[in-house]
Amino acid sequence: MASQFLRTKSIDKLLAEAEEPGRRLRKTLGPWSLTALGVGAIIGAGIFVLTGTAAAGEVLQVHSLLKAPLLSVILHGRHAVGTAGRPGAGPAIALSFFLVAVACGLAGLCYAELASMIPIAGSAYTYTYATLGELVAWIIGWDLILEYAVSNMAVAVGYSAYFDSLLQSFGLSLPPKLSEPILNSSLHLTGAYFDLPGFVVVMILTVILVVGIRESAGANNLMVGVKIVAILIFVTWASSHVHPSNWKPFMPNGWQGVLTGGAIVFFTYIGFDSVSTAAEECHNPQKDVPFGIIASLIVCTILYCTVAVVLTGIQNWQSLRNAAPVANALAAIGLTNVERWVTIGALTGMLSSLLVFQLGQARVWFAMSRDGLLPRAFSKVHARFRTPHVSTWTAGLFVAIPAGVFDIGTLADLSNIGTLFAFLLVSLGVLILRRKQPDRPRAFRVPWVPFIPFASVACCLILMASLPVETWLRFLVWLVIGLVIYLSYSRHHSEFGRPPTTEAGQEATADASPSGR
Ligand code: ALA
Repeated sequence: MASQFLRTKSIDKLLAEAEEPGRRLRKTLGPWSLTALGVGAIIGAGIFVLTGTAAAGEVLQVHSLLKAPLLSVILHGRHAVGTAGRPGAGPAIALSFFLVAVACGLAGLCYAELASMIPIAGSAYTYTYATLGELVAWIIGWDLILEYAVSNMAVAVGYSAYFDSLLQSFGLSLPPKLSEPILNSSLHLTGAYFDLPGFVVVMILTVILVVGIRESAGANNLMVGVKIVAILIFVTWASSHVHPSNWKPFMPNGWQGVLTGGAIVFFTYIGFDSVSTAAEECHNPQKDVPFGIIASLIVCTILYCTVAVVLTGIQNWQSLRNAAPVANALAAIGLTNVERWVTIGALTGMLSSLLVFQLGQARVWFAMSRDGLLPRAFSKVHARFRTPHVSTWTAGLFVAIPAGVFDIGTLADLSNIGTLFAFLLVSLGVLILRRKQPDRPRAFRVPWVPFIPFASVACCLILMASLPVETWLRFLVWLVIGLVIYLSYSRHHSEFGRPPTTEAGQEATADASPSGR
């Protein structure tokens, strides 16, 4: 059994499987569509919602060890409870954005190398199957589903709130019982029936994704354009209202504030990795995927740092602790018209982020099913649209229903820890493949190996340790549930667990040796 856990898939077999008739995806994406896909995924609710909390800090209602960042608990033990309210970065939030971008860039380079070697749907899941073995691949696939699903639940809830505030700016409003979650963060009934806008928006996007990747990419490009324009409108109009005195003191809570702010705004960068999930659908994945990852990160870093500098320049950082800091700061300086446009841009941003994450999530279901780790139905491709329709509908319902039920804004942390864990494994994967398969062609190579992959691992660990203990526990619970599914279903149905058949395309030709060479 242990050897089954450790066996890796051969990269050649992964590439051949992706070309199987009936399982081949349509190839329509180019480098700029991929970049737009990346920007579409990266800029979502985060920049419009979390920047304020990250700058101003979080005041917690309940002081408990569970709420304290793991790093504080390790360093200060029970005294960490006293510092459980997360300190804000203040105006230095721009620095947090920059540092997190550097950390993501390191992981992005590792993603780019693996994506250029293994240009297959499934992203980190597929790479770990080829490098670290089936069990770790299962864990990472399960973890990616968590990353994409939970962050989209949070974004859908954010969408609903912003949608309501847009309606209100026109003097309209939705009945609260149909626009609020059924349960609050303590899992108590709120009295509402369902958060309908969050549910509806995810289901509409699901239909778009089922109809076709070409149509999805087109819709995405349009939405990306609108949200970039909205951000530029904010920067242009607000920058003439900047008072440099608001930037002093620059780091009111020192490096601890910068790091904690970084762990919060990490959420805003999640998404560039989803570029690699579309590798099977682009013309020239070896070149286009690395380009898309790096280009989308650069564009977003410039936009985020600029927004952070302007936002903390127009309002004192301590006044930014609210759910719509960008819109509220505009209202506070009297730019109400600009506020409305920015709200429309924020909504559009959330739409494209939701779209790309749903696409990525469905590709992970698809890839895991193709390997037999999830039921085969999830890897069916629609006869006419050539899209993985069963996994797309599943991903849609998996996100839309909880988005209508739970108050999950606070679960952004859970998405962060899952993503950081995936980054960590991908960085290790680069090191392992450089040793195990040094001669395999790599259209893109990470420079300064092993320094960059190790630096990426270190950054991930620091950011993970800056997340609350409670988040670690939730993450472990999710992994344990995944392990139970793996042991009771997946390992028996995986191609390594099934007897070999002679049927074309079904033959269990996986490597016999644990090394996969
Ligand atoms: N990066 C995405 C956002 O900020 C998840 O909403």
